[in-house]
Amino acid sequence: MAQTILIFSGKGGTGKSSVTVGLGRALAAMDKRVLLVDCDIGLRCLDLLLGAAQDVVFDWGDLLLDRCSAADAILPGEVDLLAAPRRYDPSFDAAGFAAMLQMLQANYDYILLDAPAGIGTGLLLAAAGADSAVGVTTPDAVCVRSCCAAYSALRAQGLTDARLIINLFEVRPVLHGRLLNVDQCIDETGIRLLGAVPRDPAVSFCSVTGKAPDEFSPASLAYERIARRLCGEKVPLVCD
Ligand SMILES: Nc1ncnc2c1ncn2[C@@H]1O[C@H](COP(=O)(O)OP(=O)(O)OP(=O)(O)O)[C@@H](O)[C@H]1O
Ligand SMILES: [Mg+2]
Repeated sequence: MAQTILIFSGKGGTGKSSVTVGLGRALAAMDKRVLLVDCDIGLRCLDLLLGAAQDVVFDWGDLLLDRCSAADAILPGEVDLLAAPRRYDPSFDAAGFAAMLQMLQANYDYILLDAPAGIGTGLLLAAAGADSAVGVTTPDAVCVRSCCAAYSALRAQGLTDARLIINLFEVRPVLHGRLLNVDQCIDETGIRLLGAVPRDPAVSFCSVTGKAPDEFSPASLAYERIARRLCGEKVPLVCD
């Protein structure tokens, strides 16, 4: 049965979608069966990041509303993808979304849900299907506070098991006190650390090609480390 993990942030642009894809690929490289579910209704992007934008015909809205089968809606690949609907439909409901994911759990080890920014309906719909959550913040005060607020909204829905990824981490500004350090991010969000991903231009470059960054790029190494920690291995928390 898959572990279903919500990737959330509160503030936009912290790197949720990049982390979803990077972590998904790292888990797949460990022979885990992975499904990525794009929950950003109207602003989907995982298809682009996976280089599969031209291949999307159906989305999870079609599956939820019985307009297609799971086999029609899921794009197979190194990680499988369920694309987000292009627009919100009032008949989407949290219970139906959770039931849809439950039906898919037997086929996967991990289902990663890429949440939209914000703490509104979109986040709570995605949260309904999750067993646990991973907050993605950048090491600055605004993102950290929004991650804390989003976690609070999730806890109110009963989703209490969360871990934290600090994205776009840079050692030098942290040493100079211009960005929050790891302890400050943990203390301010109240979420235990899963790992840190350094700022790595390969992440943006690869969003253009839809290919994975080189396996030795700083971000890929960080995603691998995080994936191993998620699977229960003892690995140092942060990148060197
Ligand atoms: N570790 C990184 N190093 C460099 N650039 C990064 C890194 N992580 C993400 N980015 C870049 O930051 C931008 C935002 O990333 P992404 O789309 O993953 O954020 P998001 O949280 O999903 O955004 P949204 O809230 O809009 O869904 C993208 O241009 C992406 O390429
Ligand atoms: Mg996103």
